[in-house]
Amino acid sequence: MSLIKPIKIGNITVEDPVILAPMTDVTDKPFRHIVKKHGAGLVISEMIASQAMIRQTRQSMLMIQRSDIESPMAVQLAGCEPEVMAEAAKLNEDMGAEIIDINMGCPMKKVVNNYAGSALMRDELLAGRILEAVVKAVKVPVTLKMRMGWDDHSLNAPKLAQIAEGSGIQMITVHGRTRCQLYNGKANWPFIRTVKDAVKIPVIGNGDVLTVDNAKQLLEESGADGVMIGRGVYGKPWFVQQVIDFLKNGVRTPDPSMEHQYEVVKEHFAAMIDHYGERSGVLVGRKHMGWYSKGVKNSTEFRLLLNQATEAHSVKELITRFFEEHLATS
Ligand SMILES: Cc1cc2nc3c(=O)[nH]c(=O)nc-3n(C[C@H](O)[C@H](O)[C@H](O)COP(=O)(O)O)c2cc1C
Repeated sequence: MSLIKPIKIGNITVEDPVILAPMTDVTDKPFRHIVKKHGAGLVISEMIASQAMIRQTRQSMLMIQRSDIESPMAVQLAGCEPEVMAEAAKLNEDMGAEIIDINMGCPMKKVVNNYAGSALMRDELLAGRILEAVVKAVKVPVTLKMRMGWDDHSLNAPKLAQIAEGSGIQMITVHGRTRCQLYNGKANWPFIRTVKDAVKIPVIGNGDVLTVDNAKQLLEESGADGVMIGRGVYGKPWFVQQVIDFLKNGVRTPDPSMEHQYEVVKEHFAAMIDHYGERSGVLVGRKHMGWYSKGVKNSTEFRLLLNQATEAHSVKELITRFFEEHLATS
């Protein structure tokens, strides 16, 4: 029996609610494209500061570029001023976003010091005003991503979820940690059930899903309607589909062949150079290429050389050598 079924986010149906988490400097257009191509139910942009969005800075415009297979297009916004967030949401809707996600989970100092991200969980009144303003500003569905609360003494995610539902939010994702935990300790999957029980809209569980068994356990412990995966997809864009296969059919789909992985790596790197230009493309590319190589023989040396490469052609040569040597000896 399938452990997941399609969910409705407003008028949008997500057939397989296994979702790529929004991750700054990771879930850019090239990565979302690759993960979507490998079967993700939904992918979400990196967090975009609403102020930068309404100024249409070069960086925010780059972040909202969508790939041709990316539908529905979900854009995540951060900020703390209801009017600014509403304006940023409307702008994105006008530019083609089909879902707006609001960030109330980011723990980073530079974000919470501006009263945005997870800091909003400490101010339910302001959080509610933001949610209402954004929902009112757009016709597309608005979703919310948050943590369990600020710290162990303020686990107010269920209360905030009710405020969100009352404001017209259509889906909630809960990362099972508090802000003060940052990324330490282990995600608390049973806690997510308290949010699930508090609202009728779909609730997605998030945190520490690194294996298909983790995904199953998260669903069993939380009763959530779906799973969101972040770091588990590093260097493994096929992981989302493996999770879907396991949750739907109990099938443990093996990793794709090395030939397929090699093709993915080449395509991904080319897309990064195309998206960012050579200088930034190489920097972002080195990170992803390093993740792809994890666990493969001689990958430590590959990563050392990779991190010294500054030009696209050198990275390409390293990729070719690494994979072709591996294919020749396996
Ligand atoms: C490098 C990195 C960047 C992140 N950026 C964002 C972000 O822009 N917006 C957001 O809501 N969460 C962000 N997160 C949090 C993830 O979406 C996710 O909630 C968290 O990593 C826990 O899930 P995981 O254990 O599957 O990685 C980020 C996490 C990481 C590791």
